[in-house]
Amino acid sequence: MPDLCGFREAVRKHRRAVGRTQQQLARSVGLHPDVLSHKLHGGDKAVLTAPDVIGIATTLAGWGALVSRADVYELLDLMEVPRPAIPTASWSAPPLAALGADQDGASGGWAPPGPPRAPAATAPDEAAGHARAAARGELAEWPRLIPAPLPAPATPLIGRKRERTEVAAALAASRLVTLTGMAGTGKTRLALQVAHDLAGDFADGVAFVDLAPVREPALLATAMARPLGLTSVSAAAAEAHVANALQDRELLLVVDNLEHLLDETQLLARMLAAAPALRLLTTSRIPLRLYGEHTVRVPPLHLPGPGNTGTAAACSEAVQLFIARARAARSDFGADADELAVVGEICSALDGLPLAIELAAARVDLYPPRALLPLLRSRLAFLTGGPRDLPHRHQTLRAALDWSYTLMTPPTQRLFARLGVLTGSFDAAAAAAVSAELDPDRTLEQLADLADQSLLEVTAGETPGFRMLQTMREYALARLAESGEEDIVRCRHLAHFLTVAQSAGRNLHGPRQAEFFDRLEETYLTCGGQEAQTASGGALTITAGGRAPAGGLPHRRRNSAATLPQKEPGPPSARPD
Ligand SMILES: Nc1ncnc2c1ncn2[C@@H]1O[C@H](COP(=O)(O)OP(=O)(O)O)[C@@H](O)[C@H]1O
Ligand SMILES: [Mg+2]
Repeated sequence: MPDLCGFREAVRKHRRAVGRTQQQLARSVGLHPDVLSHKLHGGDKAVLTAPDVIGIATTLAGWGALVSRADVYELLDLMEVPRPAIPTASWSAPPLAALGADQDGASGGWAPPGPPRAPAATAPDEAAGHARAAARGELAEWPRLIPAPLPAPATPLIGRKRERTEVAAALAASRLVTLTGMAGTGKTRLALQVAHDLAGDFADGVAFVDLAPVREPALLATAMARPLGLTSVSAAAAEAHVANALQDRELLLVVDNLEHLLDETQLLARMLAAAPALRLLTTSRIPLRLYGEHTVRVPPLHLPGPGNTGTAAACSEAVQLFIARARAARSDFGADADELAVVGEICSALDGLPLAIELAAARVDLYPPRALLPLLRSRLAFLTGGPRDLPHRHQTLRAALDWSYTLMTPPTQRLFARLGVLTGSFDAAAAAAVSAELDPDRTLEQLADLADQSLLEVTAGETPGFRMLQTMREYALARLAESGEEDIVRCRHLAHFLTVAQSAGRNLHGPRQAEFFDRLEETYLTCGGQEAQTASGGALTITAGGRAPAGGLPHRRRNSAATLPQKEPGPPSARPD
């Protein structure tokens, strides 16, 4: 007798372990959710057929909920579906090909088929890259897709109802949607929200890739592999690896901050060609100009209409954002009707730009709205004498950034400018290293201060982590360049990350292997520019445990090949000052 109850429970356990809903499961096996529910409960003469059971097992395997053939057999056995009912060809194709073979697999009177089929490459270069990778055993098994959870913004989204609907509609109509708009207008925030809204519509969920830290165009595919859980692929194999992992997936992939990698966007076109059910939501200050791209311009937040004062002003998105951020800075911040009108004027002076509004509101502890407004106005008037080619809103943003900068103490200004060399998220040790600060507690205090002023974001994790919005980082770098310190700070940056790489290299065979792999990859991505290559003289590769130039990292996981991109040895290392 089939054990329907045991099967139902087993499916539920596996499904929940990977955070999937029964609705997603139903969609993936091609059944209406009500029909699947009836079948799982044996109601209304609804019967789970052998293809249904195999479809469910295959879907669970594709989600990473089943890890071995034994897991699949267990489900089949519960429903008394004969094991050979899964055709040989299915075992050779994803997702079943990625499952681990095991003792149970060989039992049952028949042998599971041989090695998985080779992945299909989409271009001659990829084919060559893949052949090289396969020769090194890097793609010996099909990659598993385990997308990292979407980053969770620390504050609730304000407004954007119309834009959310517009972007969702664009994604329904087009497989590539790009959110464009100037720095600080809220592209990333909107993309994250839409991804969150639509997560349930994609059988394989959503994933998020932030390209801001990627300085080397050749590392685009490597950077895309990481948030998909495909860590440690070599740069040569990364594109094939990602394309293979995505090819049968119904996934929404958010690719954030593409503006500095516009020459590499053909890679996205190749991904879309390789993965017919993939949809991309990208952000870039300017359109990617790829075939089939649908662009949506992200406007600043709505401002109070003319004559809209008092409580009417409070209905505007921009004013709501100001108030929310002001309350974070001063918990007793409350604006009466007159003050609301002033806040409305501040937001209008700042063109409704969320980033500029956040910066201004963060200082209400020092400047209540009535004092803030004339200050900002004079700063803006001052700036209109600035570069004429800058559109008005850019001048506004620049004014808000300048204003925040002038309010910092000189040591904090120095730290802020130096932090511009740190891409991605960083810890207090990295911040202390680039600023040559010997007292880590002092650095931590200054970082907390910058975070309070909305100049840094605090990232979740066991130890305090920080990240600068891309716009802020560009501003900090401009300040660093003005100070004439940029070279020396970049050298400190490299020296620090070489130390990180060396310690990761020493730990790659220990119990904290996974953690150190992550650090090494992060180091390579964030520090992987030409100067890193030159200054490290191949040290990243050597310390990673291989022997340059042919060396590679040892295998970390069953499915992932682990090598850093090969480096040509360069001149001797740069030293910290
Ligand atoms: N609708 C919104 N609600 C709340 N905060 C927002 C909103 N839009 C933007 N922000 C905040 O404004 C800042 C800039 O937004 P971001 O999405 O990073 O801009 P962009 O990606 O266009 O440079 C971020 O701190 C973000 O959290
Ligand atoms: Mg952004």
